[in-house]
Amino acid sequence: MSALYETAARNMQQNGFLDLEVDPTMDLVAAINQLKKEKNAVILAHYYQESEIQDVADYIGDSLGLSQQAASTDADIIVFAGVHFMAETAKMLSPNKKVLLPDLKAGCSLADSCPPHLFRKFKEKYPDHVVVSYINCTAELKTLTDICCTSTNAVQIIESIPKDQPIIFAPDKNLGAYLVKKTGRDMVIWNGACMVHEIFSHEKIVKLRNRHPNAKFIAHPECEAHILDMADYIGSTTGLLKYTMKDSAMEYIVATESGILHQMQKSSPHKTFIPAPPDNHCACNDCPHMKRNTMEKLWLCMQHELPEIVLEDWVIEQGRASIDRMLEVSAQAGLLG
Ligand code: 13P
Ligand code: SF4
Repeated sequence: MSALYETAARNMQQNGFLDLEVDPTMDLVAAINQLKKEKNAVILAHYYQESEIQDVADYIGDSLGLSQQAASTDADIIVFAGVHFMAETAKMLSPNKKVLLPDLKAGCSLADSCPPHLFRKFKEKYPDHVVVSYINCTAELKTLTDICCTSTNAVQIIESIPKDQPIIFAPDKNLGAYLVKKTGRDMVIWNGACMVHEIFSHEKIVKLRNRHPNAKFIAHPECEAHILDMADYIGSTTGLLKYTMKDSAMEYIVATESGILHQMQKSSPHKTFIPAPPDNHCACNDCPHMKRNTMEKLWLCMQHELPEIVLEDWVIEQGRASIDRMLEVSAQAGLLG
């Protein structure tokens, strides 16, 4: 069995303890806060986590902010309330720390849409191109990447590359198409997408806007072009949140995962936030991967210090440079997630 499969098998075993019963009368917030102190642990949560997890976290942010925190924390344990690629990124940035993910099966359809063995072959066809990868990709894909980006810094990352240098952009075709439009750079784009951001219904959004003529329509750049073309503002989760705080409108239709509405509502309690309607019958735009994490799993994971993110040394050595470069360009541009 290869080392990679051994790691995967151990991780599957690690997830087994999630079946343990948690006393339903336990004050999970108090218990989690106690474990944070005892273990010198920090909880980093993405905006798409359920609201209880956001409220118990030490830091809530987008992918850039979470990477910046993971690189700078002095905690002994990073508990990552997010998905697998985010926890892997934290491990690459802080390889000597223990990085925990409440549910190892919290994956990402976008990261899965770009298997490294296929991307390696694809890349061979363009030997003179540099590879820019959206951070929503596996650690192994980062080893094939020159520089990462997030939705907050993607424009600055592309613009930091000399104009005559050809670029491959992976794995998100929607963000890639948006960047081509925004920067005027012609890039070779991998054909991947996020299942949550591809689900919005153009027709239902038009109808909703007709019913709420004063509402602004705001969207994440992982959405398809025909959705982005309707938007009053396009931005990362942090960008969308900041926009709703500064802008004068009182109502917003929000085309991204619904978890962000919790911080929007907390920051602007007097405003109304409406999740953009998806093209399905359950009217749900939750990310099933993000929502695998629960308060119970968060407590169990901190109690048992499992499941732990384990990466092979070569992955950290060859993948980290692409994240460091991204953080350098972001710092030069004064960008915070
Ligand atoms: P940001 O929070 O960086 O905008 O990313 C959105 C996302 O899809 C994370 O999985
Ligand atoms: Fe991945 Fe999309 Fe879920 Fe983000 S929202 S974790 S990109 S599947």
